[in-house]
Amino acid sequence: METVTERLLPDRQGIDRAAALLRAGGLVAFPTETVYGLGADARQGRAVAGIFAAKGRPHFNPLIVHVADLEAAQRYGRFGDDALALAGAFWPGPLTLVVPLRAGAGLSDLVTAGLPTLALRVPRSEVAQALLRAFDGPLAAPSANPSGRISPTRAAHVLDGLGGRIAAVLDGGAAPVGLESTIIGCLDTPRLLRPGGLPAEAIEAALSYPLTPPPTAGAPTAPGQLKSHYAPEAPLRLNAEAAAGGEFLIGFGPDHPEAALNLSPTGDLMEAAANLFEYLHKADATGRPIAVAPIPMHGLGLAINDRLTRAAHPRGD
Ligand code: TXA
Ligand code: MG
Repeated sequence: METVTERLLPDRQGIDRAAALLRAGGLVAFPTETVYGLGADARQGRAVAGIFAAKGRPHFNPLIVHVADLEAAQRYGRFGDDALALAGAFWPGPLTLVVPLRAGAGLSDLVTAGLPTLALRVPRSEVAQALLRAFDGPLAAPSANPSGRISPTRAAHVLDGLGGRIAAVLDGGAAPVGLESTIIGCLDTPRLLRPGGLPAEAIEAALSYPLTPPPTAGAPTAPGQLKSHYAPEAPLRLNAEAAAGGEFLIGFGPDHPEAALNLSPTGDLMEAAANLFEYLHKADATGRPIAVAPIPMHGLGLAINDRLTRAAHPRGD
């Protein structure tokens, strides 16, 4: 979908316009001190699906939710002592904390990719802060580049990559850190999940003990380790034309009137993406085996099929 991308100045008018576009479900790129983020209202599934469509991401990975302060962060995530200590020491700043999700807080399941955990960040950038305060809600935002390209540190980079595909970019000049935020998992013991703009040494000094390294690929799973993707308990069958033997059928498109749930009766992939994780959870809650109708392999269908394949084969990553 080609649209004209507005270039907004970071003045009162520009910030208010950006907030209005976000409220209406639009995508707005905005500066943070690390890199430019591609923001969407984290409560609107279709808007979040739009992020993946605009970036051309062939898979859904969980996104970082940006909020104005710790108080707002605590509406969406649960903070233990370590998370509180790190937030107190480094927020606002280039640090993202992964904490248990507060269920029922109203975030789209697509933001967390169906996981029970949530990545939260309070950026320090004045423009990001002004936007978050004007918008007054949670913004899901990955880096504002097409999938496979490097992260943008200027509005011009964003326009090069995503111009015509997003509603607006808020031009706040060069991002000073230029590296993505450091991500720390705070689920059991604090773990470094992604090195970034905040040195791990500074984090260890604030904790007064060493960080646990991230789980290595292929290592046996220990309790409390981060799961990289959601998988239902029940067996999952893909490309199912019809339900067989007690299966719970998740349909797609007009050919599945008998489906218990339909990702999109009109065959709209954006709508299907927005519903995907919620419907998998609902199907799983019935305790029945799950069957999912074929999803076309184009646009967001690639990411939907990627997630479904992982959910069907939880051991292969
Ligand atoms: O500096 C940054 O962090 C930038 C700016 C825009 O804030 N954002 C950014 O977002 O780099 P993104 O989507 O490119 O990176 C998000 C990372 C991914 O590697 C994702 O796997 C991880 O965060 N992540 C998000 N939620 C997670 C979760 N619940 N558990 C583990 N990792 C998570
Ligand atoms: Mg990125």
